[in-house]
Amino acid sequence: MEEVLRGLKAEAEASLHSVSDQVGLEEVRVKYLGRKGLLANAMKQLAQAAPEDRPRLGQLANTVKQDVERLFQAKKEALEAGSQTVKQQLDLSLPGRFIPSGKLHPVTQVMEEICAVFEGMGFAVAEGPDVETDHYNFEALNIPAHHPARDMHDTFYVSDSILLRTHTSPMQARIMEKQEPPLRYIAPGKVYRCDSDITHTPMFHQVEGFLVDRQVSFADLKGVLTLFTRRIFQGDLPLRFRPSFFPFTEPSAEVDIACVICKGSGCRVCKQTGWLEILGAGMIDPAVMKMVGYDPEKFSGFAFGLGVERIAMLKYGIDDIRLYYENDLRFLRQF
Ligand code: FA5
Repeated sequence: MEEVLRGLKAEAEASLHSVSDQVGLEEVRVKYLGRKGLLANAMKQLAQAAPEDRPRLGQLANTVKQDVERLFQAKKEALEAGSQTVKQQLDLSLPGRFIPSGKLHPVTQVMEEICAVFEGMGFAVAEGPDVETDHYNFEALNIPAHHPARDMHDTFYVSDSILLRTHTSPMQARIMEKQEPPLRYIAPGKVYRCDSDITHTPMFHQVEGFLVDRQVSFADLKGVLTLFTRRIFQGDLPLRFRPSFFPFTEPSAEVDIACVICKGSGCRVCKQTGWLEILGAGMIDPAVMKMVGYDPEKFSGFAFGLGVERIAMLKYGIDDIRLYYENDLRFLRQF
């Protein structure tokens, strides 16, 4: 009898231990502590024990019953406390949890804005390879080997004839050799030069634009670029066309915009000039036209290549281009 009672206590304790909800708890209560449960049954059998053993066994049975009741009560309280915590955690009236969402990089945003302005003027968009051949990057643009203009490009070479494109102008030759005029394209993308200071990064973005048709003039180029700057800067910022030289355009110009950082009075960004160069442009050189099989007597065209980071600097008043690529979230979150 003694063994039976101790066995019942051990069994009840193990069952209570594995119970995980109120339903299981009630089942254990009925099985061990119920009116017809195992402990009540064992107590009834005390009557059959020898009279001299009955007081000791009776006392043991009571202790076992009290112990099981105590364990039951403790388990009940633990389960109630647990469900209370779950209830507190599940406050359905709380607002939803904020999931941080990423944003487009400011340079990507400006790139998209620039493309949208030109698309609005009827330019189609084309993309080309970052890893380019010497032929498209230089030769097809009237820059033969040993031409001094190659020095301006600070090129990253992959091999003698393969390089990281130094500008988006190779897209002029790639598209023109496949299509007949009239055509009107922009080609956005990354370009690479071994160059780094507050207005230069080794990787930056350009948007190339070109238009070929009959009787295209420099006035058309000026008109398109003036309209572009008005749209992108939403105002009438002073713009100037400075004579320049590119082997693939003739005549050529560089376009500067009044420095928005110092409002033209001179600062370290505009190198005290009051102006910041945003693009190179010109009329497509007849030599380039001939290389792609166009007749320069019949067709003429203009081309331009603009620096996206420079435009982003002007738009947002950023005085160091390298900030765009330091991945400092405090900087990037502002856009
Ligand atoms: C060119 O790259 C010519 N391909 C542009 C062109 C196209 C001329 C079509 C004529 C016809 P340039 O090297 O000046 O030109 O670069 C164009 C623009 O890119 C610059 O005006 C400047 O805004 C930007 N840029 C140049 N180098 C860097 C650099 N390292 N980091 C950031 N922006 C740069």
